Amino acid sequence: MLEVRDLVVRYRRGFLSAPGLAAVNSVSLTLPLGHTLGIVGESGSGKSSLLRAILRLVPVTSGAIRLNGQDFLSLKGPSLRVARHGIGVVAQNPFLSLSPRLTIAEILAEPMQAAGLAVNHRARAASLLAQCGLPAEFLTRRARELSGGQAQRVAIARALTLSPSLLVLDEPTSALDVSVQAQILNLLQDLKQDLGLSMLFVTHNLKVVAHISDSLLVMQRGEVVESGPTDQVMQAPTKAYTQELMGFGRHALRP
Ligand SMILES: Nc1ncnc2c1ncn2[C@@H]1O[C@H](COP(=O)(O)OP(=O)(O)O)[C@@H](O)[C@H]1O
Ligand SMILES: [Mg+2]
Repeated sequence: MLEVRDLVVRYRRGFLSAPGLAAVNSVSLTLPLGHTLGIVGESGSGKSSLLRAILRLVPVTSGAIRLNGQDFLSLKGPSLRVARHGIGVVAQNPFLSLSPRLTIAEILAEPMQAAGLAVNHRARAASLLAQCGLPAEFLTRRARELSGGQAQRVAIARALTLSPSLLVLDEPTSALDVSVQAQILNLLQDLKQDLGLSMLFVTHNLKVVAHISDSLLVMQRGEVVESGPTDQVMQAPTKAYTQELMGFGRHALRP
């Protein structure tokens, strides 16, 4: 459903980016329908840049992206908007991504209004919340009144409002307590099964993503250093870098 070929993202020369260095350097990946691809790498390895390029939030220097058979990079205006509805996005910190002033009902209705979705917004919001493990009484609350795990459930519900086929998650559990992380991972696993979602799951923590990924892509300095079925990568990591991400290295990387 998603195919990325030789993708390059080179930011304008500026502070932090060394001249000539690409944040994403010739990355290719294939995500079949209903699969989860875990994208792992140390901080600064280009994971978020790769996701942002796939969402067309940063300019792509070169390469190709095909989404559901469409040349995604050539889409403009209304056709780009419609194609984007097929992608749900979940960020790391729900308290930054959810407006603190709005009720949960308003937060969930917003994308439906913007897309002109002809359904009962409140009923759909309640059913999305239920699907994400929260009772309808949360509709009248505000994000700042929620725990981190509850807020991330709302963020996931919002990402699902337009029935996307692809869910893109950038460090979705990294801001949460360890016990809550597992609950969110279980929820994502259930949603994947119930809705047939495909997922791109970005994290610096290989252990977090290994359980729920069909395949893994390991990034270092903008490049893919290892990729393949999760079992294969976990059982026989070919690179010392991957072993370090698994916590086996002498200098195990800190989060
Ligand atoms: N908007 C930007 N402008 C310039 N350089 C950037 C920008 N965003 C990220 N970078 C650089 O691109 C590289 C990859 O960053 P990023 O994609 O955020 O990695 P990760 O998500 O794996 O931590 C880093 O060197 C970072 O400094
Ligand atoms: Mg990042």
